[in-house]
Amino acid sequence: MRPLSRRSRYDAHLNPLTRALSAHQGPLIDLTRGNPTTARLPYSDALIRAALSDPAGLTYRAAPFGAPRARAAIAELLGVEPWRVMLTASTSEAYAYLFKALCDPGDVIAIPRPSYPLFEQLAAFEGVATTSYPLIYDGRWSPIFPSAEAARGLAALLIVNPNNPTGQQLKRGDLDTLAALEIPIICDEVFRPFPLDVEPDGVASLIGWGGPAIVLGGLSKWAGLPQMKLSWAIIGGPESFARPLLERLELIADTYLSVAGPIQQALPLLLDSRHRLTDALSARLRANLDHIKAACVGRPIEALKVEGGWYATLKLPATQDEEAWALTLLQARGVLIQPGYFYDFNDRGAYIVLSLLTPPGLLQEGLKRIIEGVEGALSAG
Ligand SMILES: Cc1ncc(COP(=O)(O)O)c(C=O)c1O
Repeated sequence: MRPLSRRSRYDAHLNPLTRALSAHQGPLIDLTRGNPTTARLPYSDALIRAALSDPAGLTYRAAPFGAPRARAAIAELLGVEPWRVMLTASTSEAYAYLFKALCDPGDVIAIPRPSYPLFEQLAAFEGVATTSYPLIYDGRWSPIFPSAEAARGLAALLIVNPNNPTGQQLKRGDLDTLAALEIPIICDEVFRPFPLDVEPDGVASLIGWGGPAIVLGGLSKWAGLPQMKLSWAIIGGPESFARPLLERLELIADTYLSVAGPIQQALPLLLDSRHRLTDALSARLRANLDHIKAACVGRPIEALKVEGGWYATLKLPATQDEEAWALTLLQARGVLIQPGYFYDFNDRGAYIVLSLLTPPGLLQEGLKRIIEGVEGALSAG
């Protein structure tokens, strides 16, 4: 039998933390959860149900970029022209469409490191290779973008603003560097509505920047509704860049027509009714981050600066690596965290990532156990 494709090959080997988790017995404080719908948040249930009951959802009208009313709602939300809006079922799907339109198999795109672990896989599925550019921490995270010369070998550069999991936000000074690259910039702004400790020179969005940027967002984070499967890509930049790209994307989107009709009909109401949830979510992120910062003062743990998003990064003593810390915390303290290598942290520090979505009581108890676990290991060693 012919072998299956190389691009879908994966390592089926379970990492030690996953193995330890399946063997774990007894209660567990899970500080890794990123699913808002199970995070005990106040959704407007009746409004969401009402939004989904629009009879217009009973009729099918094929539209590659999405229903005009839904595209107009996103255009209004973001202050862009509707012709620049493409709807997709998820941000992952938007990446796949963009890689098909911007890259040929074997082309290379630049991705941030550390960052969202799915990028390599999304690229590999399209036959696209990745190279990474580092985010460096020096009291705040900063990207070291490739030089203009290196960028000549790239089909596109990806930015996550604010980044997952570092929370790093673009700065005004980054914009000139990006403009000089003269390549398409894909800017993932799924966490934009959740700023935290922003810097005065922070740039919240590449919308309206003027350069060749494609900006991504979606209901999964913007409205805390990942189950609705609706995201958007805004094709920015000069018309000489945006129009030809949209022509290619239209052909691709027309081949799949993947966004469900009823959710597109519901979109305007879902956007209008999201604030109760997003306000509560933002307040939780803020309170959890403040608690983490206060609790780590005077401890052998550094809470790194978080400019936005749903995650906090802690730097633990490098007396053991992050996987060893993750195993110690799980087995001895019953706390589950994500070790930094899940996100490809660069240096050899011991980083762990906590979800700021965690209900505050659980986060506080989990962090107390982390601090006790780290201090206990240091005094024993
Ligand atoms: C940076 C980033 N982009 C995209 C996504 C996923 O978005 P979607 O659910 O729209 O595919 C995530 C999910 O955590 C993410 O962290």
